[in-house]
Amino acid sequence: MREYGVDDMKLAVTGKGGVGKTTLSALLARALHHQGHSVFCIDADPDSNLAATLGCAEWERIRPLVDLKALIEERTGVKPGTTGGMFRLNPEVSDIPASYGVDIDGVRVLVAGAVKKGGSGCYCPENALLHALISHVLLDPGSALVLDMEAGVEHLGRGTVSNVDALLVVVNPGRRSIETALRIRRMAADIGLEQVAVVANRVRTPADEAFIRDALPNLPVLGVLPEDETLLAADCTGQGVPTAEGATGQAISALLTELSRLVN
Ligand SMILES: Nc1ncnc2c1ncn2[C@@H]1O[C@H](COP(=O)(O)OP(=O)(O)O)[C@@H](O)[C@H]1O
Ligand SMILES: [Mg+2]
Repeated sequence: MREYGVDDMKLAVTGKGGVGKTTLSALLARALHHQGHSVFCIDADPDSNLAATLGCAEWERIRPLVDLKALIEERTGVKPGTTGGMFRLNPEVSDIPASYGVDIDGVRVLVAGAVKKGGSGCYCPENALLHALISHVLLDPGSALVLDMEAGVEHLGRGTVSNVDALLVVVNPGRRSIETALRIRRMAADIGLEQVAVVANRVRTPADEAFIRDALPNLPVLGVLPEDETLLAADCTGQGVPTAEGATGQAISALLTELSRLVN
């Protein structure tokens, strides 16, 4: 087992659509960078908006990995769009974060893009390259990883995230995101991922927090983020999440402290 530290903590963020996964990913990435860590993010949500949430004005011009057809073919040996071919199982990926990631004020972001899903898992070259990349960065001691994942739980079935240090499930006060969290926990257990923790987001009152804790008695609630007008405002102006101050900043620092305890 490798030595864990905040330095190279590998985090994946999931939860129901709209609960604040991308916001939390951006806040964590900014905070880790602010603390002096090297941070690499993968936006693995087909509806990619992590770069925009980090304040990248030119986010629409970022080419997602799945669109880099020549690269995919070169590395996997198979033309994108084909299935069932004999692609290399261990494509070279070590240069991809530096070459294809975009630097957003010190945080490096790679946009995965929408990988088509086929039946019981997609053995397409796009997916093979993405999996190889995620597996590579999960073992890279040189930087922290924040993986912003799609809504729901399907990706867990593919096992990509089974080696993260912690899977953070974002929930809001409300039944629907709780149901998703429970499904995610079951699927995480199925793939042997035990470090699952909840981050309660958009909490307005102590009753909101109590609701979430009561509804998820078997999952640790590692962080509680308040409803924060400045996050909504940042979304409207396109400035990106600030390196959080005030109550949100404190909540993020506290969450990082809890995470380093959890993974150590
Ligand atoms: N703690 C919060 N306070 C206020 N608004 C929030 C908070 N967290 C997220 N939001 C807002 O909720 C919306 C959805 O957040 P987002 O992070 O994109 O969700 P997801 O990635 O889960 O789909 C955004 O407009 C975001 O600004
Ligand atoms: Mg998102």
